[in-house]
Amino acid sequence: MIRRSFLKTSAFGIGSTFVFKSHSAILENEIIQNGSTPLVISSYNGIRATEKAMEMINKGADALDAVIAGVNIVEEDPEDMTVGFGGLPNEDGVVELDSCCMHGPTHNAGAVGALQNIKTPSKVARLVMERSDHVLLVGKGALRFAKAHGFKETNLLTERAREQWLKWKETRDPDDNWFPPEIDNKGKAYKGVNYTYGTITCLGIDLKGNISGVTTTSGLSYKIAGRIGDSPIIGAGLYVDNEVGACGSTGRGEENLKNLTSFLIVELMRNGMSPKDACMEGIKRVISHAKTKELIKENGRPAFNIRYYALNKQGQFGSASIYGPAEFSVNDGNENKFHPSDYLYEWED
Ligand code: GLY
Repeated sequence: MIRRSFLKTSAFGIGSTFVFKSHSAILENEIIQNGSTPLVISSYNGIRATEKAMEMINKGADALDAVIAGVNIVEEDPEDMTVGFGGLPNEDGVVELDSCCMHGPTHNAGAVGALQNIKTPSKVARLVMERSDHVLLVGKGALRFAKAHGFKETNLLTERAREQWLKWKETRDPDDNWFPPEIDNKGKAYKGVNYTYGTITCLGIDLKGNISGVTTTSGLSYKIAGRIGDSPIIGAGLYVDNEVGACGSTGRGEENLKNLTSFLIVELMRNGMSPKDACMEGIKRVISHAKTKELIKENGRPAFNIRYYALNKQGQFGSASIYGPAEFSVNDGNENKFHPSDYLYEWED
């Protein structure tokens, strides 16, 4: 059951919608403004991840163990079509996964890109970090490395994802040789087709005050085989500095790759900016660099969405996206719930 926050967000700030605030509302505002630890935050699809991670942190787990265990729930869930098992495939109908993790106390990182047949790429990313001298392994090498560590291969393409992919293939070009079961798209390619950059990121501060994070995804649906997005790239899909904070992202990876915005957002926090202001500054940077015609709509607004999630050492947190409204998952040790993200523009058709 989704519990909605009582806080209302504007494009640039958060304010209470109540004239008379309850004691718990005052407490919550204090926590948001002053910060509290331990803390776990995640993207909208990470509400089970924040719950699991906080449960582990409260028992003394390292933040990295906790956030990876959290996202494993979503990676292994066939119902989430943006992450791990059941994720939407590439244009050839093959699921290729990207993930990275970063451990604050050691400033160490590991990542995998275009990994096939393994449900939990975040676990493999962690092994790259801990059991190799490398940071990023991709494709066949990443799969061989996973198998060397005992991972079993599984077909990650569920029937639901295959059907979506087939629909995409059959409706993308009216003149090709793939016939849809019925012509219902009236010339509009993609109608009714699930098309996504969806991803999960999860960031945590443990009882020792140490910060770690993980990002994991099946990436852009129907991508060209071998395409790797921002999610496994340190500084883009995720960045952690144990003395400052952490940032993760979801959304159009290409624009994030061109700006290394998670790194930027952590640096902005180092210079004193709050997590939510730093996230919004990151959004503005991405937009200011989006100059090619494919990235700009007729009304001048971006033709894509991207979202950042950040926390700092004090346990303050925030999130911002280009389009909203949107929510993200937060567990402050007392409650596991959705919070509103800041955003620049209302969703448009
Ligand atoms: N942010 C996920 C991707 O672009 O692959």
